[in-house]
Amino acid sequence: AVRVFHTVAEVRAWREGLRAQGSGVGLVPTMGALHAGHLQLVTTAGAKDNAVVVSIFVNPAQFAPHEDLATYPRTLTQDIAKLSAHAQEHNLTLAVFAPSVSEMYPRGITTDRSKQRGTFVEVLGQSEVLEGGTRPHFFRGVATVVSKLFHIVCPDFAVFGQKDIQQCCVLRAMVTDLHFPLTLVVAPTVRDPQDGLALSSRNVYLSDEQRQRAPAFYRGLCCASDLFAAGVVDREQLIAAVRQQAEKEGLDIEYISLSSPDDLSELQQIGSAGAILSGAWRMGSTRLIDNVLLGFT
Ligand code: PAJ
Repeated sequence: AVRVFHTVAEVRAWREGLRAQGSGVGLVPTMGALHAGHLQLVTTAGAKDNAVVVSIFVNPAQFAPHEDLATYPRTLTQDIAKLSAHAQEHNLTLAVFAPSVSEMYPRGITTDRSKQRGTFVEVLGQSEVLEGGTRPHFFRGVATVVSKLFHIVCPDFAVFGQKDIQQCCVLRAMVTDLHFPLTLVVAPTVRDPQDGLALSSRNVYLSDEQRQRAPAFYRGLCCASDLFAAGVVDREQLIAAVRQQAEKEGLDIEYISLSSPDDLSELQQIGSAGAILSGAWRMGSTRLIDNVLLGFT
């Protein structure tokens, strides 16, 4: 059976027990509303008989006051049932850590940046571009909550999804800068098998009509991948391929970026280190993101 913990003290006690047994621990941080993408991260974390901690916490610090903190899907009972079935199927030792806001932020938290008090983690240099361009509060909130989770769980490794590639880059920099004694693992994006749309907890916001049009962005990313495989390394050509497919379905593109996997700086051409081709678009009030990796894994 899956253990469910709500306090830092409980999860720490469990983790100490595992240490005594010599068992490794993998951490999968989530905000819940779990889907097959999250479950794949759990499978990865549970490889080699590691025990797995899945955290479920809708983190106020990574939402701006105008964003969807209040309406973000909260489905803890179903999430625990899914994890339970998954753990049984894959024979995993699994605990859920689902803390309250006051447990994670003992001195309080508000989405209003000007009123925030307390300790925050900022990863400068990678947090301001791309997703950080329109969501300046976002990676500070993510880095802060993930560093709390690392301190609480002390995992041997932590698994994140390629779907949120910039999040992986920011957190990898944080692990290096703050000397967290763990390995960060990036797992591939899980997609709808029919049309390739990346699974996301926010897909539930889409109308049927929006859901039909949404996969056009990924079709564009695939066209660009094919061009790259055929030898095209030029920024404008690759970005145009994405834009063309996306515009066929009238997607409201926020950005398309070809960036360096090292520091997320924009590239004119893809060199030996490869590139991240990524973007964001809006469908009504929903904002979606996706990416492919070109020339590296
Ligand atoms: P959340 O959006 O719930 O995602 C949790 C993890 O699942 C992230 O590592 C994300 O990249 C991964 N994920 C989401 N959709 C995926 C997909 N289709 N395929 C593979 N992996 C996928 O990302 C967050 O929560 C938060 O920012 C968090 C890291 C938990 C900090 O609050």
